Amino acid sequence: MDMTIKKANRLRGSLTIPGDKSISHRAIMFGAISQGKTEITNFLQGADCLSTIGCFRAMGVDIDNQGSQIIINGVGLDGLKQPSARLDVGNSGTTMRLISGILSGQKFSCELNGDASIQKRPMKRIMEPLSMMGANIKSLANNGCAPLAIQGATLTGIHYQSPVASAQVKSCVLLAGLYADSQTSVTEPALSRNHTELMLSAFGANITSEGTTAMIEPRPNLYGQSVEVPGDISSAAYWIAAGLAVPNSELVLHNVGINPTRDGILRVVDAMGGNVRRENVRTVSGELVCDLVVTSSSLHGTTIEGDLIPTLIDEIPVIAVLACFADGTTIIRDAQELKVKESNRIDTVVSALAAMGADVTATDDGMIIHGGKPLHGAVIDSHLDHRIAMSFAIAGLLSDGETKILQADSVAISYPDFYESLNRLILS
Ligand code: S3P
Repeated sequence: MDMTIKKANRLRGSLTIPGDKSISHRAIMFGAISQGKTEITNFLQGADCLSTIGCFRAMGVDIDNQGSQIIINGVGLDGLKQPSARLDVGNSGTTMRLISGILSGQKFSCELNGDASIQKRPMKRIMEPLSMMGANIKSLANNGCAPLAIQGATLTGIHYQSPVASAQVKSCVLLAGLYADSQTSVTEPALSRNHTELMLSAFGANITSEGTTAMIEPRPNLYGQSVEVPGDISSAAYWIAAGLAVPNSELVLHNVGINPTRDGILRVVDAMGGNVRRENVRTVSGELVCDLVVTSSSLHGTTIEGDLIPTLIDEIPVIAVLACFADGTTIIRDAQELKVKESNRIDTVVSALAAMGADVTATDDGMIIHGGKPLHGAVIDSHLDHRIAMSFAIAGLLSDGETKILQADSVAISYPDFYESLNRLILS
């Protein structure tokens, strides 16, 4: 499906932001390997999270998806069953990387695969630490990518110095640590999202953090919990950018997760002069949540780098769009991880922005954007990357003429109702 977007004169209204993708995945996984019942509300019914449900169902876990609520009858740490076919993670890197940590400590073997995009994403980053723990994991094509084959093994605790600030790598190693014979710890170069640490602790694991190191003790008794999933700040990001840059706009975004390991976009828009107010700050299932009020603002460029990058990595495409509407220069650096997302997001963002007339240059670890030049509509290939489709739908609202997004339905990965919400804000 393609989608045509026209320039908007103003945006008005309020939205409740759909459940956080990272937290939804973890709630299914941890519920599955806990004893007893887990109830999840505001679960993200996006394709990626449904892939996680599918994988655990294929390993014998009873998961009742009632839409607004999910009920899992957990099987405990050792209750998963060997799947009868390859596990299918679809487009979901989080599913493949986190589940590999759990599978490495089972008493059975299995294979995992997913779509064409997932078969290009680097899995060596998890294969290396898992192998150090004694896991038997291999890339079937021998290229460091999926399909993967994992033969359950006896695991040893390690201390892992991760070369990348990646919550998927960290979580994979910590989950394998549940099955190890001694403590496992991971130190990362900068702190990545800590949802695993927060939620596993609530399920009963002995998991602690100190700076950029997380430590887990093996073989805890995990017990099912009630999890209310906060709204996903990565999904709210599109409306934050649109509300700031479309003139005469005011948007209220309800129930947005603002965990400090995820709130980099708020710090960046503050630095750019954007008016985003946090209201009703509260804690929901151990995660910080608030409502955001976004008002059209005059913006100026900024530099985004260093430890800030992991706190906004998925928001960089839409921040780059926003930077085109800020006076002066925005520099994004230290973001080489963008190259190994659902698409090479340095290439896909820079070429799409250039097609719309932006003054943008790709660098090896990010991009440089000189803002203030008006954009015009163009035909944008989403490359089946949900965040590219949504970011350039927002660019379309801000550009003269029409913007056509190809393969626009890729938004179903993380935000199935994205276009419905967009129409509501235009018409309100
Ligand atoms: C995620 C971590 C990030 C992020 C991804 C979700 C997670 O990936 O980009 O969308 O749920 O742990 P990396 O860990 O590869 O940085």
